[in-house]
Amino acid sequence: MENINWSDLTFGYLKTDYNVRSYYKDGKWSDLEITDSELIPIHIAATCLHYGQEAFEGLKAFKGKDGKVRIFRMRENALRMQASSRGIMMAELPVELFEKAVLEAVKKNERFVPPYESGASLYIRPLLIGTSAQVGVKPATEYLFLIFVTPVGPYFKEGFKPTPYVIIRGFDRAAPHGTGTIKVGGNYAASLVAGKIAHEKGYSAVLYLDSKEKKYIDECGPANFFGIRNNTYVTPESTSILPSITNKSLIVLAEELGLKVERRPVLTEELETFEEAGACGTAAVISPVSRIDDIEENKSYVFSKDGKPGPISEKLYNKLRAIQYGEAEDKYGWITEVD
Ligand code: PLP
Ligand code: COI
Repeated sequence: MENINWSDLTFGYLKTDYNVRSYYKDGKWSDLEITDSELIPIHIAATCLHYGQEAFEGLKAFKGKDGKVRIFRMRENALRMQASSRGIMMAELPVELFEKAVLEAVKKNERFVPPYESGASLYIRPLLIGTSAQVGVKPATEYLFLIFVTPVGPYFKEGFKPTPYVIIRGFDRAAPHGTGTIKVGGNYAASLVAGKIAHEKGYSAVLYLDSKEKKYIDECGPANFFGIRNNTYVTPESTSILPSITNKSLIVLAEELGLKVERRPVLTEELETFEEAGACGTAAVISPVSRIDDIEENKSYVFSKDGKPGPISEKLYNKLRAIQYGEAEDKYGWITEVD
């Protein structure tokens, strides 16, 4: 670790010192266990392996100029993991235990929080899986919750530079009333083929349309979508997208900037009217969209011709980063300082 080149980090796995675990059995969660093992022993009939009882989260810790480490909105991630648990009938982890585990995982691996100057951050990955055996399709009675952390750079290698996205109608990531609103592994498995096609064609990610009618915009692979038009922040409302904590935060910051905010179904044709567009998420932060190609319709929507992010995307990005790195006031209680 002594020779990590922090500024060159990509969004990948790098071994850190410890991970944190809690086990659910007989209706109770165990005290946190700290281990340096990267492996888990698992029953061959565990429900996570056969029936997809698996949910995960993603959040980040940032080291500020002042040397302090700050975690962004961990309570929201705890609540979303509970929603995921309800969605696929897993035991719900108490918010307090989630928060304690996040803090413990960061503290125990503090030497892996990238320095301020690098622009990198510590990605925190909570995971919850059904571990007890079932052969019939039924929820497990036992669960494992764990958190590992890993230092990461930008999700899209270009960082805060506009990149192209593609609409591919032949694949759905989530059904209209399926599991799109929760963070379960199956959604990501369903996105792999279309994602690979998009990457091979030179796009950052797929811009998914609603699965039923293919009329409305859903989200951008691993991130939500927003468009800016006429001083308005427009972001899709849909029964098949993940409620992004980054998007929720940007909505607040957009209002602070005096923008109007519209969260509603967004027709694909509206893409023509946006002056700027972006993908937003923990991993993606804001990844500006340069262009969206709708291959089947032979259409292209261009948002950046000069390779630069639009002015409002840039303002939003700077505002969000300033809070995350402790350079702007934390007015809404989004930050937990690690001491
Ligand atoms: N949409 C999907 C499908 C995601 O995987 C993510 C990442 O977590 C997001 C959106 C962004 O959510 P958040 O801002 O909470 O990270
Ligand atoms: C995140 O933004 O945290 C994500 O989970 C996106 C991706 C790595 C799945």
